[in-house]
Amino acid sequence: MDIIDILYGEHGMLLRILEALEEYEMPKQRWDTEIAACRMAARLMRSHADMEDELLFPALVGRSDYATVVLEDHKADHFVIRKLLREAERPGSGAPERLRELATAIRNHFEKEEGILFPMMRNAIPRGELEKLGEATRAYRRMEKYRKAPL
Ligand SMILES: [Fe+2]
Ligand SMILES: [Fe+2]
Repeated sequence: MDIIDILYGEHGMLLRILEALEEYEMPKQRWDTEIAACRMAARLMRSHADMEDELLFPALVGRSDYATVVLEDHKADHFVIRKLLREAERPGSGAPERLRELATAIRNHFEKEEGILFPMMRNAIPRGELEKLGEATRAYRRMEKYRKAPL
């Protein structure tokens, strides 16, 4: 399985978690639980973004001017998503509103990756290289339990 297929799978899993968080009407007196749920989603999302930053994005560097522009746009999305994650995790942050903002940013980002970035990578990078990156992705996940939780 190549890196793109693995990332599609992670998007699916993260979207299901976001849906569950959005459906959950948390009473005000149970903010801690809501924050804990946000933290769980935030760690998974950060880990996904970290993996893309470390393995996916470097594979595109120097491929073309267009690839550079697309890459910068995706890095900027990751920056914004990390900022929204920090805000959603903060106690008393008005989590339901923060969560809606965050969910929209993540959905838009995934759509951009699946609509622009991933097809571009399939065109620009030889199949064998994408498979090798897939193996690196699986190794990254195998080592996850030894990694410090992403900030
Ligand atoms: Fe991403
Ligand atoms: Fe992604």
